[in-house]
Amino acid sequence: MEIESLSEIIKKRRSYYASDFSERHLSKETVEIIIENGLWAPTHKLTQPWRFSVLEGIHRQEMGVFMANYYREIFSVEEFSNERFEETKSYAKNATMIAIFCKPSSRLPEWEEVAAVSCAIQNIWLSCTAMNIGGYWDTGTATMKYVENHAEVKEGEKCLGVFFMGHLKEELTEVNRKRKPLSKKLSWVE
Ligand SMILES: Cc1cc2nc3c(=O)[nH]c(=O)nc-3n(C[C@H](O)[C@H](O)[C@H](O)COP(=O)(O)O)c2cc1C
Repeated sequence: MEIESLSEIIKKRRSYYASDFSERHLSKETVEIIIENGLWAPTHKLTQPWRFSVLEGIHRQEMGVFMANYYREIFSVEEFSNERFEETKSYAKNATMIAIFCKPSSRLPEWEEVAAVSCAIQNIWLSCTAMNIGGYWDTGTATMKYVENHAEVKEGEKCLGVFFMGHLKEELTEVNRKRKPLSKKLSWVE
């Protein structure tokens, strides 16, 4: 593979939200190809502290309803309108949701294990981009609470959010979220 191809995928990767997903749901085979790439992320002492759980089927309805009711409780109608409330109820209808768990090893500082899971998520995200599949990492409180209530969190595990994925609608325009220049982020210590 050429560096140009890899750079292109890295720079093309964007966050695409569930409202950007088409009605064509991801197949099990596609999900497995993507998550398999996650497993090849680096881990200190090869701990591989991640576990992923796929939420689809009834969860596509229930996640949106849960989010809508959660936001209705914490926000006023001015902040979260009735229209948004109704829209949010069906927000996840086209999403395949991957709950992300980390079971940190006692042999390592926890941050290293969270960093390793983050590497896995980047592999997953880039794989989505290469397959023209949209996705984003959701760490919102409502989403996390939904996982705690509906997916089995095993002993010693922490939920690190949910990766939402779906085939993109055709009419989407490219999202441009600019980055600060290299000169501001890279220095040479000589
Ligand atoms: C650890 C992590 C958590 C994130 N959580 C959320 C989230 O809860 N909600 C959200 O809309 N985006 C979330 N994002 C996506 C970022 O907002 C997004 O990556 C950033 O705006 C840059 O845009 P890009 O991904 O399109 O380049 C998260 C990203 C990371 C790395």
